[in-house]
Amino acid sequence: MSDGGMSPGTGVGADVTQLPPLLPPPVPPPAPDLGDDLSVSESLPFERPVRSDAGAPVIGPTGRPMPDFPEPRPLSVHGGARVVAMCNQKGGVGKTTTTINLGASLAEYGRKVLLVDFDPQGSLSVGLGMHPHEMDLTVYNLLMERDVTHEDVIVPSGVPGMDLMPSNIDLSAAEVQLVHEVAREQTLQRVLAPALAHYDVILIDCQPSLGLLTVNALTAAHGVIVPLECEYFALRGVALLKTTIDKVRERLNPGLEIDGVLGTMFDGRTLHSREVMDRLVQAWGDTVFHTVIRRTVKFSDSTVAGEPITSYASSSAGAESYRALSREVLARWLDG
Ligand SMILES: Nc1ncnc2c1ncn2[C@@H]1O[C@H](COP(=O)(O)OP(=O)(O)OP(=O)(O)O)[C@@H](O)[C@H]1O
Ligand SMILES: [Mg+2]
Repeated sequence: MSDGGMSPGTGVGADVTQLPPLLPPPVPPPAPDLGDDLSVSESLPFERPVRSDAGAPVIGPTGRPMPDFPEPRPLSVHGGARVVAMCNQKGGVGKTTTTINLGASLAEYGRKVLLVDFDPQGSLSVGLGMHPHEMDLTVYNLLMERDVTHEDVIVPSGVPGMDLMPSNIDLSAAEVQLVHEVAREQTLQRVLAPALAHYDVILIDCQPSLGLLTVNALTAAHGVIVPLECEYFALRGVALLKTTIDKVRERLNPGLEIDGVLGTMFDGRTLHSREVMDRLVQAWGDTVFHTVIRRTVKFSDSTVAGEPITSYASSSAGAESYRALSREVLARWLDG
């Protein structure tokens, strides 16, 4: 029962002199000693640190002790999807690559995944082998036509357990047309709602802007993942993205969380990449994922092949990084 429920004798007008004396408030248990360095995340329940042969914690690429994220447990029932927007208004930072490969890795771990291409460039759809002009129905039709349902638009992605809502250049018209709609920022949330019961995770690949389509994605989402290229100029503009996320949280979607900031195209051999990573951890603390995605040409090759790196080059370091990211993400969602 909620605290607001009335119990006998405590309702309005009860004689307060007849009530039993108040008990002293319970003493909370002492807080665990987290030490001075809160960025060391050994205290989080799902994180077991990797230890070297000498027993010392292994320092990961973000400069923090690297936790060992457990193998996710299999799911026997599906549904109640967590919706996550892949968002950064800077172009070419790895949003689409992360959507495809995180989605495919989550599907490998038995999660039912839907990818939503929410970029008129349609890169996600092309990256999964679709031809922009051969699409029958796209997200545009779902947004703008009342008789089109999510089932009409969803197609198999070619990866077992992962489906796709494709897009093409038609979606750019939606941005203009939605301006005249009632509750225009909630349109994607409304049309996507019936799909949540069929999936465990829905990843929305945003376009590189903070316009109405991206605000729709943030309004429909439970969480945001911010891919960020490990390059100095990538740090500029992050404050504006944070302000946009805060505004959406205040005005449209109070439950919106930042699931994590992901360093992409990391090159550990260069001082530059490591410095950018240090700055990122200073600014965002434990929001930064321990997993980073290194720079490798395998990603462009797999895009040309129209499939995720997890199947194109299954044992490559890039595929392993996205598997590690999916374990870390599931641990953060407490879906391990
Ligand atoms: N870790 C990586 N190493 C090397 N190349 C990468 C990596 N991640 C992505 N790329 C390549 O960088 C380019 C841009 O990546 P991607 O399309 O994922 O970025 P995006 O943020 O979705 O771009 P846009 O803002 O245009 O939608 C692509 O050619 C992709 O193959
Ligand atoms: Mg993209």
